Amino acid sequence: MPNVLVGYSSDYGNTKRVAEAVAEGANNVHGTIVHLKPVDELSTDDLGWADGIILGTPVHMGSPEWRIKRFIDKVCGPVWMKDGLVGKVAAVFGTNSGYGNEGSGGELALLALLANFAELGCILVPLPKSTPGYRHAGIHWGPLARSLGEQMEQLGVTAEKLDAARHHGGNVARLTAALYGKQIFAKAR
Ligand SMILES: Cc1cc2nc3c(=O)[nH]c(=O)nc-3n(C[C@H](O)[C@H](O)[C@H](O)COP(=O)(O)O)c2cc1C
Repeated sequence: MPNVLVGYSSDYGNTKRVAEAVAEGANNVHGTIVHLKPVDELSTDDLGWADGIILGTPVHMGSPEWRIKRFIDKVCGPVWMKDGLVGKVAAVFGTNSGYGNEGSGGELALLALLANFAELGCILVPLPKSTPGYRHAGIHWGPLARSLGEQMEQLGVTAEKLDAARHHGGNVARLTAALYGKQIFAKAR
């Protein structure tokens, strides 16, 4: 059975909420086992267990948040030395405030994470524009859910944005199942 790991960091709960929707979407794909964990609880064992990894970050100063970066450097880095993530499926998501309504650095933050996973040899999953909710949380690198309004008021993450996240989780789980479900079946025989 394919194993999908959803990791996230979150100070105020917005990215956690999106992570839960991503995990729910993955969990809806038949046979998938999903682990949802804060990034600072993730270890090399979690990476070994996972066939697919989905990592979510709040945008901080135009970049992934520092705990996410620490995970990439301290936990994924040593695994890179052994090519331990090569061929695994990877995808990303984020939340931001989008001050000024544009140019929040969200795209840069998601791209930075995708670049990390490319360096690790993973198969990357984007977000097609036909995805339900894309218009609200869409960026082709992965769902990016703005948690503040135009006056910087706290809106939280809306249902449409969570919908995009749910579909993203489902897409990753389906690809992971296609690649790893059969392989594990073949090994079992
Ligand atoms: C230190 C800090 C830096 C931030 N920098 C940015 C930023 O550069 N661009 C942006 O759009 N939002 C920025 N934000 C806003 C957060 O990305 C946004 O509120 C996010 O939804 C918070 O996620 P959380 O509730 O999971 O912690 C920043 C927030 C903090 C606390």
